[in-house]
Amino acid sequence: MRIAFVQTNVRFGEVETNVRKAADRILGSNADLFVLPELFNTGYYFLDRSEAEGLAEEIPSGETCRVLAKVAKEKSCFIVAGLAEKAGNRLFNSSVLIGPEGYSTTYRKIHLFDEEKLWFDPGDTPFFVIDIGMCKIGMMICFDWIFPESMRSLALQGADVICHSANLVLPYCQDAMVTRCLENNVFAITANRIGSDVRDGGKLDFTGKSQITAPGGKILARGSLDSEQVRVVDINLSAARDKCINSRNHLFNDRRPEMYFYNNFSLLNRKANKIPPD
Ligand code: ACM
Repeated sequence: MRIAFVQTNVRFGEVETNVRKAADRILGSNADLFVLPELFNTGYYFLDRSEAEGLAEEIPSGETCRVLAKVAKEKSCFIVAGLAEKAGNRLFNSSVLIGPEGYSTTYRKIHLFDEEKLWFDPGDTPFFVIDIGMCKIGMMICFDWIFPESMRSLALQGADVICHSANLVLPYCQDAMVTRCLENNVFAITANRIGSDVRDGGKLDFTGKSQITAPGGKILARGSLDSEQVRVVDINLSAARDKCINSRNHLFNDRRPEMYFYNNFSLLNRKANKIPPD
């Protein structure tokens, strides 16, 4: 299977240009699965919720999904792309999965970062995995990475490849994805953007360095800090399906959820207060 990230620069608010550019990048490449950045069509740094609402689209009837569906059909590929979603009077920072047969599903960002809390509603559906035939994929968006539970939830549900649309502003994620892929034995495609959003005196710089990371934590491709690019990598999915670390240790079967804090608050509380178990 061939997987790819599409690292783009984005001009804030110039949806048609941004979508066309990303579409052309996909049309000029060959892969089974492409991942585009978070909010790849609008830009990231909204001034307020009403501006986000003005640029948000309904899924899948909006123009961005329409163009991506056309490209996915023409290239016979799957595309995961981040965009602002309008759903009635709710707004989500979402990513869509679109394939050769058209629109498939939407993930709504669960962990909103900083001012995103002013612009969007938090995702209202749990992490899920979807079987696209050649593999099972999970979707997450940018800041979701900082919560290990995000990728763990996807991996425990059987995801082989994590599609991670991002607009990273902190420099830690790319290195952290090495650990996330090591601890879950999955592939991850982090598609980040480059450039800056300069809005009303404020400026946000995005950190590029999109990355494809393999089970075991090996970096298969890393983009540059400041240029647009598509990187395609051939992967062998069997690497994500064997969760054995050695003959005695299994990444998932050796977990001890009954010993973990959130499942056993009263026991830990007893220990902390030196109360013997019942
Ligand atoms: C982020 O979640 N876009 C930093």
